[in-house]
Amino acid sequence: MENKKNIAIITGASSGFGKEFTKLLVTDKTLDEIFVLSRSGDKLEALKSELGEKIKPYIIDLSVPEKIKEFGEYLKAQNANVKILINNAGYAKFCSYDDLSIDESLNMINLNISGVVAMGLVCIPFMEKGSHILNIASQAGFQPVPYQNIYSATKSFVKNYSQALNIELKEKGISVTAVCPGWMKTNLYERGCIGAKKATKKFMLMVSPEKAAKKALKDAYNNKDISIYGLHVKIAVWFTKFLPEKWIMKIWLLQQGIK
Ligand SMILES: NC(=O)c1ccc[n+]([C@@H]2O[C@H](COP(=O)([O-])OP(=O)(O)OC[C@H]3O[C@@H](n4cnc5c(N)ncnc54)[C@H](OP(=O)(O)O)[C@@H]3O)[C@@H](O)[C@H]2O)c1
Repeated sequence: MENKKNIAIITGASSGFGKEFTKLLVTDKTLDEIFVLSRSGDKLEALKSELGEKIKPYIIDLSVPEKIKEFGEYLKAQNANVKILINNAGYAKFCSYDDLSIDESLNMINLNISGVVAMGLVCIPFMEKGSHILNIASQAGFQPVPYQNIYSATKSFVKNYSQALNIELKEKGISVTAVCPGWMKTNLYERGCIGAKKATKKFMLMVSPEKAAKKALKDAYNNKDISIYGLHVKIAVWFTKFLPEKWIMKIWLLQQGIK
């Protein structure tokens, strides 16, 4: 039987943070192929044209669990060692609870939570000692955030789930890192800002996704369970550990100018 190929899998690679991870990993000589997943085939093909034949596009809607199981079957046929899985696809809606339909609210949970869990479960059987999972959470996962209540709650799930899974996978030698960025310059806001009356509108201290991705990979290779880029995010997270949540939410509303 042929030697297994070493692969990385990056979800939401067609844009923003995921695209930056792809650009960084394509230069890794230990990886034979980079599987890039998203709904936009044209953007994934453009990424392949830009970065070369190592890039393997796979079109998928990760909010649909059946499609992730199908990806699992496809993976079985690949004779691959998944060295890195980056569960990055996700989105936010910056608005009040009643600005979204039930379907829109649940779809965010399906992608941000179920998609992350299902992709991990599908990929772990193809991982060996020394492999890494990076689950993209957010600074928002450290506190309840009014007017992005579902988004922040999904990111709390991803953070806590990843930390616990990291302990469980230690015996297999696989690390899980919850990546918790603050605001980054990506397309997140195109889908997130829907013109709601009460909404997150001030995105302070935005950083480049490239720098946050570099830090996240470094932390994952050092088997850290949490990755935070930027002193401002570290300080804000530190406050969430010591101040009552009611105060944290009040400060957030004041900062956003929401009454
Ligand atoms: N930007 C920030 O300030 C920030 C801060 C903290 C955490 N994050 C997290 O970072 C991650 C990446 O977001 P980003 O900021 O890079 O935003 P982005 O530029 O909008 O990228 C989102 C990616 O997710 C993919 N995606 C969306 N829905 C999908 C679906 N149903 N199935 C498959 N792929 C889907 C998109 O591809 P297609 O549209 O082609 O499917 C795109 O590649 C998210 O988990 C986000 O919550 C972002």
